[in-house]
Amino acid sequence: MTKALDGIRILDFTHVQSGPTCTQLLGWFGADVIKVERPGVGDITRGQLMDVPNADALYFTMLNHNKRSITLDTKNKTGKDVLERLIKNCDVLVENFGPGVLDRMGFTWEKIHALNPRMIVASIKGFGPGPYEDCKVYENVAQCTGGAASTTGFRDGLPLVTGAQIGDSGTGLHLALGIVTALFQRTVTGKGQKVTCAMQDGVLNLCRVKLRDQQRLAHGPLREYSQFGDGIAFGDAVPRAGNDSGGGQPGRILKCKGWEKDPDAYIYFITQAPVWEKICDVIGEPTWKTDPNYAKPPARLPRLNEIFARIEQWTMSKTKFEAMDILNEFDIPCGPILSMKELAEDKSLRETGTVVEVDHPKRGKYLSVGNPIKMSDSPTDVTRSPLLGEHTDEILMQVLGYSTAEVATIKASGATEAPKKPA
Ligand code: COA
Repeated sequence: MTKALDGIRILDFTHVQSGPTCTQLLGWFGADVIKVERPGVGDITRGQLMDVPNADALYFTMLNHNKRSITLDTKNKTGKDVLERLIKNCDVLVENFGPGVLDRMGFTWEKIHALNPRMIVASIKGFGPGPYEDCKVYENVAQCTGGAASTTGFRDGLPLVTGAQIGDSGTGLHLALGIVTALFQRTVTGKGQKVTCAMQDGVLNLCRVKLRDQQRLAHGPLREYSQFGDGIAFGDAVPRAGNDSGGGQPGRILKCKGWEKDPDAYIYFITQAPVWEKICDVIGEPTWKTDPNYAKPPARLPRLNEIFARIEQWTMSKTKFEAMDILNEFDIPCGPILSMKELAEDKSLRETGTVVEVDHPKRGKYLSVGNPIKMSDSPTDVTRSPLLGEHTDEILMQVLGYSTAEVATIKASGATEAPKKPA
């Protein structure tokens, strides 16, 4: 079966996490992704958090499926010539270097556009234009500067970063959308364009509901926040809201049977207004259906602590899975807190390809997250990440058309291999 991005070739200059997540998605959609790596070194994640000696770390393998790897020193004169030919032969260049790196390499937007007017140049940076545009950024910096950390955690605790990599993988997703949109526009204009996504902007986009609440604060307290029920006054900025729901339907994390020993024996419970009566029946409080203190959502807001304490009495008598089964029968929205172990062992996630087992020549079998986006006419086959420089010759000859003799000359120049260390 064909893939959605068949025929699209990506010059993948990405490293670490944000950029690689973007190009991996494009690979899953069928693009030919050519990852350019520094000879002898490669993407730094190949060697970070290593668990199996002499094998690429999971950090790398789980972010670089469905790609080919070419080693190329882009500061070497011959390396630059090869890079020029790659630019002429690819549709999209994706990079997440530190600010100014591509320009310092000699590949400004103007130069790339002159070499290949159809090329789309897609970049991730930490910040957009402004006071911090020259700063290097990693995940947690983006979470802190994009509004996630100030709004995550408990009111009386430190700001918190989340386990979900909203700065890196989140921005990678944003960029992938920008790229396919630019490819779509190119079908009309025939021209490439610059696509940029700042990690701060990507995180703020994902924290949109908190900017909503910031503005609501001007009109009174945020009545669905636990803080309101606790009688604690609001300041002038959106506070951390613990596990309160971010939407209009109050929700909390509640203990389930076994919580004393199992750190994940909890369930998220949402008191969605349309199913309030069913909730009252399930937890054994039928009088709350008509009692004016509980019957309507506004009356419940100052009593949420008491209400959730009562619901928790019920959830503590069930395991999280028993509670889920019972509540779902009544269409009451809820979700057990699933550990990574439970997710790794989940049968249905394996069946849909959301969790996949991949075989790697150096490390053997490992689990990864497959493509979460399912397309009926463009199925995803997850193939293992490339070894460093595994496809250098193949790309030089098959993609760029160099002859065997020319490849030998390129190699002799030191453009594709790290200089040998003196014995
Ligand atoms: N051949 C030769 N040199 C190469 C090369 C290649 N194939 N690939 C990279 N380099 C060089 C660059 O030219 C650069 O050299 P220069 O500083 O002399 O110009 C150098 O490698 C380092 O690049 P940089 O991207 O700044 O790496 P870093 O390790 O110092 O910083 C980040 C890493 C992630 C902090 C930085 O890249 C960054 O801020 N990126 C944008 C935001 C981002 O994506 N962050 C999240 C990452 S998960």
